[in-house]
Amino acid sequence: MGANLIVTEVNPVRALEAAMDGFRVMPMEDAAPIGDIFITATGDKHVIRSNHLNAMKDGAIVCNSGHFDIEIDIAYLNDAASKIDSEAAKNVEAYHLANGRRIYVLGQGRLVNLACAEGHPAQVMDMSFATQALASSWVVSGVKLEVKVHDVPQHLVDEVASLKLAAMGIKIDELTPEQKHYLSSWEVGT
Ligand SMILES: NC(=O)c1ccc[n+]([C@@H]2O[C@H](COP(=O)([O-])OP(=O)(O)OC[C@H]3O[C@@H](n4cnc5c(N)ncnc54)[C@H](O)[C@@H]3O)[C@@H](O)[C@H]2O)c1
Repeated sequence: MGANLIVTEVNPVRALEAAMDGFRVMPMEDAAPIGDIFITATGDKHVIRSNHLNAMKDGAIVCNSGHFDIEIDIAYLNDAASKIDSEAAKNVEAYHLANGRRIYVLGQGRLVNLACAEGHPAQVMDMSFATQALASSWVVSGVKLEVKVHDVPQHLVDEVASLKLAAMGIKIDELTPEQKHYLSSWEVGT
């Protein structure tokens, strides 16, 4: 959408991927005074916390698209704010900090696409539901599974992707038997 995007990370491989994709990568502490809109999407806790919130520009907007409402330290904002305008706009709360700046929190730090918008488009959920349905069917098909969290088997991931491509009217190439053999061996080459 033409946004000037900064990525913050804790994982070196993900950070390198972001840098290679052309994004600026830096610690949250350095991004805090630069950003206008902050979106957490980590599944982690207190990714945006007191020192970051205090370093942000007046009028900065923060929201969360990760799992729970703890990615942004809202509890700190509630404690530290000298004034909270709970109806700054629909689904927007303005926290007035001691440094005179206002931080706008969308949807109380809950999943912003669900709290402030209309949730996931069907084009996304169809793949999630197809994966859940096929994985459930696989689990009760007689496979012996240890009691732990398992990855969805790759053949089911591929099946969902193939169904989705077909529904989108997109065709792709198939490996020839010669290519399959070549890719699964190491004898041929210079
Ligand atoms: N809002 C939605 O509709 C929606 C949809 C799908 C997933 N999710 C949620 O989004 C979250 C991310 O999902 P994902 O599949 O991208 O997970 P992921 O594990 O692939 O990505 C999360 C990234 O956050 C990074 N991270 C963790 N702690 C960090 C920190 N303190 N600072 C900076 N980066 C940090 C990790 O290194 C990782 O690269 C999950 O909590 C997931 O449940 C939300």
